Amino acid sequence: MMKPRARIIGTGMYVPDRVVTNDDLAKRMDTSDEWIRQRTGIEERRYIEPGQQPADLASAATKNALEAAQLGPEDIDCIVLTTLSSQADFPGTSFFLQDQLGLSDTPCFDVRAQCSGFIYGLAVGNGFIHSGMYRRVLVVGCEVHSTGIDISDEGRDVAVIFGDGAGAALLEANDDESDDSGLLEIRLHAEGKFAKKLWIEAPGSGFWPVRINHELIDERRHFPYMEGRFVFKHAVRRMPEVLLETLHAASLKLEDVDLFLFHQANLRINEFVMEQMGIPAERCSNNIQRYGNCSSASIPILLDEAARSGRLEPGHIVSMTSFGSGFTWASAVLRW
Ligand code: UT7
Repeated sequence: MMKPRARIIGTGMYVPDRVVTNDDLAKRMDTSDEWIRQRTGIEERRYIEPGQQPADLASAATKNALEAAQLGPEDIDCIVLTTLSSQADFPGTSFFLQDQLGLSDTPCFDVRAQCSGFIYGLAVGNGFIHSGMYRRVLVVGCEVHSTGIDISDEGRDVAVIFGDGAGAALLEANDDESDDSGLLEIRLHAEGKFAKKLWIEAPGSGFWPVRINHELIDERRHFPYMEGRFVFKHAVRRMPEVLLETLHAASLKLEDVDLFLFHQANLRINEFVMEQMGIPAERCSNNIQRYGNCSSASIPILLDEAARSGRLEPGHIVSMTSFGSGFTWASAVLRW
């Protein structure tokens, strides 16, 4: 018997209502709307309201995905949540999500692969389905960056790019041999040598005798650190590499792809990659202008917007590619 392939049967997204424009940020740090737009393409992003929790975002995105699939939380066999901005140090955000969904013993866990998290999560869900262990796996990318960034002159290079949001995809086993929709190929990569080029080091169990103290906070080591140009250079090399590797594995060519979804780190990165690869703008979707960089939530938010806008039709080939902290880079290709 053919091993089941995972297909996406519902997508959902959620971003908080609170819009933060570049001008809003310019009131709190030495930056400008012009600088941010020119270097990143970002016009605004969303931040949570006081009291909102990461699991609230993940839960809203999940409910939309379940509604699209016409299923309920009890139909989910396993939850994989991807994040770099966990609600608590432990346990992972997935446990708070599981509780909010009213589930009592559905397995859940977090995947930590930063901006490539969603594609890593898809690979995990795909593996579970392919092996026959589960039939339906929820993969949710969920990030709250706004409470972790340094909104001051010192943190301005990193702070302006991030936003909060969540995106979800429900995977289901497709064992109908006459239906060729589903995930075709996924490729994952990482290079830990560059872990410190984009990271938050504290709180961390690498510190002794405590994970966080006033000194670490005074030294601002609980805020993200990024060597922006270094990261940029690696992103524009690794994304085309892994995208082509994945298409090749699926015996597809660039021309076969109907929609390219790239991680939303910086619009200039994606424009560079598209130009380098000869991908026309109309076959690519970006939303960083409205949401900023939502790390592992960026790609599922893009996917949900594409699905709901009618841009995706049955049989369409969709390519998703990411690059982020770790370093990690990954690509997935699916038939819708
Ligand atoms: O999602 C995970 C992966 N992340 C990425 O892929 C991000 C990759 N990197 C980037 O997108 C870009 O490096 C940034 C958008 C983060 C920064 O852009 P950049 O063109 O690389 O700027 P830079 O850090 O080299 O700084 C250029 C200048 C500096 O001033 P001087 O030294 O030339 O006088 C910075 O101090 O721009 C200054 N600057 C700013 N000015 C106004 C840095 N940040 C800001 C700011 N507003 N927010």
